[in-house]
Amino acid sequence: MRIGVLTGGGDCPGLNAAIRAVVRVAASANDDIIGFHHGWRGVVDGAASPLTTAETKGILQRGGTILGTARYHPDEHEGGTRAVLATVEQAGLHALIVLGGDGTLGSAKRLADAGVSIVGIPKTIDNDVSGTKRCIGFDTAMATAAEAIDRVQTTGESHDQLMVVEVMGRTTGWLAVCAGIAAGADAICLPEKPTDLDELAKAIQRRHDAGSSSSIVVVAEGALFQGPNGSSEGSAGTMVSTGLAKRTGYETRLTVLGHIQRGGTPTAYDRLLATNFGVAAIEAVHSKAFGTMVSVVDEEVELVSLDDVAAGARQVPSTLLEVAGRLTVG
Ligand code: F6P
Repeated sequence: MRIGVLTGGGDCPGLNAAIRAVVRVAASANDDIIGFHHGWRGVVDGAASPLTTAETKGILQRGGTILGTARYHPDEHEGGTRAVLATVEQAGLHALIVLGGDGTLGSAKRLADAGVSIVGIPKTIDNDVSGTKRCIGFDTAMATAAEAIDRVQTTGESHDQLMVVEVMGRTTGWLAVCAGIAAGADAICLPEKPTDLDELAKAIQRRHDAGSSSSIVVVAEGALFQGPNGSSEGSAGTMVSTGLAKRTGYETRLTVLGHIQRGGTPTAYDRLLATNFGVAAIEAVHSKAFGTMVSVVDEEVELVSLDDVAAGARQVPSTLLEVAGRLTVG
């Protein structure tokens, strides 16, 4: 078979491990793999090159994506869907394997409806694709964020400062809640549960009255706040650090982790997950199970319908929010 592969949306560690698995399994089945450059954009423009085991040698441990990526959705552009169908036809593709988050896989769903034979693989450090419990890249980003919070904590303790760390997560707080719990954050501000800055400031003051000289607050970039969610005060991290400094009078420092948490070498878990997903995607193509996405359920990889992605961002479950609530203040 001739099978196209693309990586779309924000990059993440583990994409190369999935590409490598796809190429290796395909090679043993005598399939040809065509790698499209910069996500859906490469399919629209016909920008592609063959991928063999030679091109994928040594990439298992490498962050990012050797194919490049872009936030581009062909179905949202005039003639985009037609261009994808034309490329599929001209390149003689029997299937496309699409690695993406909800944006890229949302387009995959609409293009599958338009007749393209697609199998999706979920990836995003946000871990919020509906239909799977895990996305490639989340484990690495969580470990990176937790380590960064640990580092910020020791310097905050030495200087008796209130430390605020902003992590990624626009619509869901998976990274903030999981890295926050893992690093022992004193408070976590999330999109799922609006934070009352007055209450948080009082809770932190109570901690300090009881003997703590430093606190650490983890903030998801999409955190919501009670009262006016004023954009005039800048990012969510800025809002928390200036808001708490003003209310408590404590010396406060803000660290915005930014793209540090999206780059670098994938953890062993992400390499394993990505490899399992890559193998399962090729198997799905061979059995013509199109319009699906590989998904992890209790460590087993399954196929779910691409329709499941349309359910919207997968929220942090209330059980995990409760665990965070028991270990933090505010
Ligand atoms: O890949 C998802 C994500 O990491 C979000 O958490 C974050 O809001 C966004 O990407 C940032 O992306 P960009 O670099 O395109 O601004």
